[in-house]
Amino acid sequence: MKYITVDEMRSMFLKFFESKQHQILPSASLVPQGDASLLLTGAGMVPFKPYFLGQEVPTYKRVTTCQRCLRTPDIDNVGKTDRHGTFFEMLGNFSFGDYFKEEAITWAWEFITEHLELPVDRLWVSVYHDDDEAYEIWTKKIGVSPDKMVRLGKEHNFWEIGVGYPGGPCSEIHFDRGAEHGCDDPNCKPGCDCDRFLEFWNLVFIQYLQVEPGKFEPLASKSIDTGMGMERIAALIQGVKSIFEVDIVRPIIDKIAELAGTSYGADPEKDVSLRVITDHARGLTFLVHDGVLPSNEGRGYVLRRLLRRAARHGRLLGIEGQFLLEVVDVVIEQMKQGYPELEERRDYIHKVVSLEENRFHETLDQGINLLQEIIDQLKAEEKALISGEDVFRLYDTYGFPLELTKEIAAEHGLEIDEAGVTAAMEEQRRKARAARTAADYTNKHGELYKQLLGKVNTEFVGYQHLEYSSKVLALIKDDQFVDQLTAGEQGIVILEKTPFYAEAGGQVADTGTITAKVGQFQVKDVRQPVESIVIHQGVLISGNIKVGEEVLATVSSHERMDIARHHSATHLLHKALRDVLGDHVYQSGSSVDVNRLRFDFTHFEAVTKEQLALVEQKVNEMIMANNSVQVENMSMEEAKAAGAMALFGEKYANEVRVITMGESKELCGGTHVSSTGEIGLFRIISEGSVAAGVRRIEAVAGKQALKYMDEREKILMEIAGNLNTKPENVVDQLNRLLEQQKQLEQELNQLKKALAGDLVEELVKNAEQVANLNLLVTEVDITDHEELRELGDRLRDKLNPAVVFLGAKTSEKVSLLGMASKNTNVHVGNVIKEAAKLCGGGGGGRPDMAQAGGRMPEKLDEALAKAKELVLEQLKVSP
Ligand code: SER
Repeated sequence: MKYITVDEMRSMFLKFFESKQHQILPSASLVPQGDASLLLTGAGMVPFKPYFLGQEVPTYKRVTTCQRCLRTPDIDNVGKTDRHGTFFEMLGNFSFGDYFKEEAITWAWEFITEHLELPVDRLWVSVYHDDDEAYEIWTKKIGVSPDKMVRLGKEHNFWEIGVGYPGGPCSEIHFDRGAEHGCDDPNCKPGCDCDRFLEFWNLVFIQYLQVEPGKFEPLASKSIDTGMGMERIAALIQGVKSIFEVDIVRPIIDKIAELAGTSYGADPEKDVSLRVITDHARGLTFLVHDGVLPSNEGRGYVLRRLLRRAARHGRLLGIEGQFLLEVVDVVIEQMKQGYPELEERRDYIHKVVSLEENRFHETLDQGINLLQEIIDQLKAEEKALISGEDVFRLYDTYGFPLELTKEIAAEHGLEIDEAGVTAAMEEQRRKARAARTAADYTNKHGELYKQLLGKVNTEFVGYQHLEYSSKVLALIKDDQFVDQLTAGEQGIVILEKTPFYAEAGGQVADTGTITAKVGQFQVKDVRQPVESIVIHQGVLISGNIKVGEEVLATVSSHERMDIARHHSATHLLHKALRDVLGDHVYQSGSSVDVNRLRFDFTHFEAVTKEQLALVEQKVNEMIMANNSVQVENMSMEEAKAAGAMALFGEKYANEVRVITMGESKELCGGTHVSSTGEIGLFRIISEGSVAAGVRRIEAVAGKQALKYMDEREKILMEIAGNLNTKPENVVDQLNRLLEQQKQLEQELNQLKKALAGDLVEELVKNAEQVANLNLLVTEVDITDHEELRELGDRLRDKLNPAVVFLGAKTSEKVSLLGMASKNTNVHVGNVIKEAAKLCGGGGGGRPDMAQAGGRMPEKLDEALAKAKELVLEQLKVSP
């Protein structure tokens, strides 16, 4: 076999299919776009789901890609074997309702035998057990000998991803690595569990939609989805033992080995860690590149798990401190030919990785100690199960991925109570879920929208028009299509053309009215549940509206303008933030509506007051520059070349809309002002953190900014009025007042002290001499604990040797204080305890000092009398 590098293979494959009229598309993000049902892109077909299902019309019917993929089900086995990994690249060719089995099979064979020059005698093919059509093509058209063909069941040769996804029977091509890799079975064939036959290309004949678990419905048109594991085929062709040794992976493993002072293959135990770090470093580099940030939920958790697992294995290898950045750099170096954008985001990737690695090291030691304690205790008690609560605490407080705890537990022969952990996690999620309930009418009517596919293709005319007449194509009420809506009814209106912007890209929907011949519908929300359909949700306020009639759709222009001001302001804010803080700033979320804008962005520390002021100033300067807002449609390549900012991993069509305002240039589908001056004014209201590495700015523009300033102004005027001065003198006046207050407080304290001195003199006179000491039991007028104690101290010192009992009351409560000089034989703590009971309270203290409270002021006299009685008793003096 001829040696081919991964980089060569990538372009050979894409070019081959280009020559078969396929459009080459770049790899999509690891974060599936517009698809909440899937956590990560785990196959080449994922970005094309709507095309297979006929929900969207593809621009190209034949496409070929090299897709970055991440699959986590095997994560526990990564490292333990040299076959498992989470991150990989998948080469694929796709037909959306175009060619089918015959072409897919013919081209696959042509590519591997003529271009990769794989030896035909080592190739085997499997088909789904009842797929005679594929069997015939392979044997008759291609000429594969029947003894190299196997028919396999659902487990091997039927491809499915889950409910809502396309799937179908498939055919796989296998490579015979030789009997020495196999088992003892003389009939060993593809499908056997041993390592002899390596499956490397999967041709899926898409013809079903999975509607329920295990239930499939035929699709209107048949498609092709093929996937060839890049690392697998590369390992075969390059004649190396495993995916970890192919040309773009080996340098990563070697780098880690170098950092750990070892070499790959020298020590089986270390090899496990080397493989874990290698695989995970590839995955985490791309996850961060695609905009995922470490967290305890969803994709963020996958990233955290990969990163922390890699960091921990670094420790197992004896690598001290942070090391992942060096590994990430090798990943970028090896992958940059296929993914040049990695290089552009290197600084950003570094920041996210080093922040999380650092955080992990900080908590790791604490967590490991805690886990060790738990393990020791369990061992002492001869138990083998770590409780769900403990595992959850490690996860929640110390950021230990569950699998890490499991792994460490397993190293000690222990298990974790998974049901207990699930219960604890579920409880936490339940709380989080309760906090967010989405508008559900978009998905609720999924079945209904499906019936409209192909018949309805709402055209959005709202970039140019705020009012448009259009035909009503459908009406929905209570989950059903209806012919009309009548006054008072809630429902959904679907039009042929609409000026209403449907909620998208963080911009809220337009509101307004749809006027029918004899009725008016108030539009409260607008959504786009599938690409081709816009729905207007609201209520009919009068008359009726009927399917088929011409109506006038009118967007509320004031609100549209308020929204546009906020939206355009976010573009300027984005630009200003990058100018002031640096190029690591990327938009990670935004929301604009009539009242305000919210902009989330990547940044790794709080933004200082000075920086914020500068950002605000820059935005206002860009507003005053009154640049016209230019909207252009162009190809993605042109947009990139022009330096337009795109969102992380967002899936863009081939033609994109680019909004330019002065130096700001962004891809965006939203509605904007026509020149920046229309924004009027911009004010930042708050800045804070939303997640690790993500900050949020809330701001207002236009009318809302004026309103915000008016409100502030009003507050200022009121303060000035109360201070009896002009607004410009408020600060001086206030400082003067604060200074005055400080002085007054000092004076007051002095006066209090002087008064207390007089009081002491006064009270001393009431003391009685009993058994060689001075006893003073009296009521005073001081309820503040501190002051009471101070008075007690002074009286005791003055009367030394002395026993002093003071009582004070307000209308609601009683305070008691007992003090005694040393060696008086009186325990004031015991005395006060009894005395306090009489006035409905409790308390106690030391022999020489005690305090108590009570709730019955009318009983204070009794309590003091009791105190005196008890003291005399303790002094053995009869009253
Ligand atoms: N979707 C199939 C797979 O992932 C072929 O691309 O194996």
